[in-house]
Amino acid sequence: AKPSAIFGAGRLNSQGYDLSDAATLARIYEVREIEMPGAKPILSDRLGTGTDRQIVNPATGEGIATVTDADADSVERALAGAAPWEATAAERAAILRRAADLYEDALGPLFAALHREAGKTIPDAVGELREAVDFLRYYANEGEKLTAGPRGVIAAISPWNFPLAIFTGQIAAALAAGNAVIAKPAEQTPLVAAMAVRLMHEAGVPRSALQYVPGDGATVGATLTSDARVDGVVFTGSTETARVIQGAMAEHLAPGAPLIAETGGLNAMIVDSTALPEQAVRDIVASSFQSAGQRCSALRCLYVQEDVAPTLIEMLKGAMDELALGDPWHLSTDVGPVIDADAKAGIEAYVEAHTARVLHRVAAPETGTFVAPTLIEVGGIADLEREVFGPVLHVATFRAEDIDRVIDDINARGFGLTFGLHTRIDGRVENLSRRIRVGNAYVNRNQIGAIVGSQPFGGEGLSGTGPKAGGPNYVARFTASPTPMADQ
Ligand code: NAD
Ligand code: ALA
Repeated sequence: AKPSAIFGAGRLNSQGYDLSDAATLARIYEVREIEMPGAKPILSDRLGTGTDRQIVNPATGEGIATVTDADADSVERALAGAAPWEATAAERAAILRRAADLYEDALGPLFAALHREAGKTIPDAVGELREAVDFLRYYANEGEKLTAGPRGVIAAISPWNFPLAIFTGQIAAALAAGNAVIAKPAEQTPLVAAMAVRLMHEAGVPRSALQYVPGDGATVGATLTSDARVDGVVFTGSTETARVIQGAMAEHLAPGAPLIAETGGLNAMIVDSTALPEQAVRDIVASSFQSAGQRCSALRCLYVQEDVAPTLIEMLKGAMDELALGDPWHLSTDVGPVIDADAKAGIEAYVEAHTARVLHRVAAPETGTFVAPTLIEVGGIADLEREVFGPVLHVATFRAEDIDRVIDDINARGFGLTFGLHTRIDGRVENLSRRIRVGNAYVNRNQIGAIVGSQPFGGEGLSGTGPKAGGPNYVARFTASPTPMADQ
């Protein structure tokens, strides 16, 4: 038997979140009732004229719902019907705070949907709901400090890996400033997003100020980001998609329409010979394999000082062997599935192409879309061809005298999201944190799970446009006269 979860779920009472419970499922399926203003329901397994999309539980491969994508008419109605939120900043803030309360009350069905649609483990679902609620309350407070008015209509385009937290954060920030939002969730996770929209409407956000258009990026997303009625885009997703959106906006949107983009990373961690090995291994495992490595913040390239590398890598392999893969809704599960079959195929093709350098790989369940946590040896970060968005960690060794070159190599890749450092040399902490060019640097801890308000999150270079989400300058970017983009 596996030991209890390494990542620690705390003492959750699972009563009420039982996924075989018909009442819970019925509440999840109520999302079909979401309506566009003056239109037929667009999220339904029967109605609508857009493409039908099967939503599959990634842990089991079972279909859980059929969602109808917004068609061209629905997107047009959303654009034509969008109207900035006519309310005082205090009224908007009160409604966003009410939405936060409703999210907390809906914990059971939201957890169930996060589990079934996105394959979230219990700790990840807890963290995700917490972050979404924090975004609502934090941006409500920030919105009350603004002096400038809204920009107008904001298209919010979000990824599947935080289908509640990032989806909610983008919307809450734009709404706190008084904009109208047209939100397009990732194609893999429209159900969680629809539940979030329903809760925000229930809290009092007008339908004209928040509209929901599920569908894929190349059609629904591209239509929104190239329509001149849109005054700005907030995007989180891959660096490649951000480039496409930037091009579309330059061609079709008014000059100066902001693109607020939070994108991918090739994140590194350095472990020197003074680090506490047990602590480093625990933090490496959490940074690389929690959420099945599907975090933009996740550790992709570990550098271990050569003197301690043999011992540390053996310990790391042992810790990988202890990871429990399986039903994400089991309290002991550490690593759930990756989001879908395409993601699994892409990650496995990458590992296959690097078989000769695989140092370690654990077993993964055959059902669903699980991918075995894998350790691959590399010479350095320059060897990483791309961001592999899954449980794949690369490891390199370095000599003590080369540590500055390692920092140069990391900076040279052009991404700048997270960085981890394990050392007990104070001067090294100061020197390396000053030289590394990333948004979020963490010392002697893991490098995932930034906290709204206290750890604003966002990168530079290829990792994002700033300002950081969950930080004091974020909401101002959604106003007509944003304050200067000082970093946080
Ligand atoms: P993705 O870029 O494939 O998709 C993100 C969103 O963009 C989806 O809603 C998609 O439908 C939409 N989209 C795709 N093409 C589009 C187009 N031409 N026009 C408009 N919209 C379009 O990313 P993903 O696979 O959903 O998410 C994983 C990626 O997101 C990773 O690269 C990860 O690092 C990144 N990410 C970054 C952060 C951050 O805060 N920096 C957070 C989470 C995820
Ligand atoms: N904000 C998320 C994290 O820090 C992506 O892991």
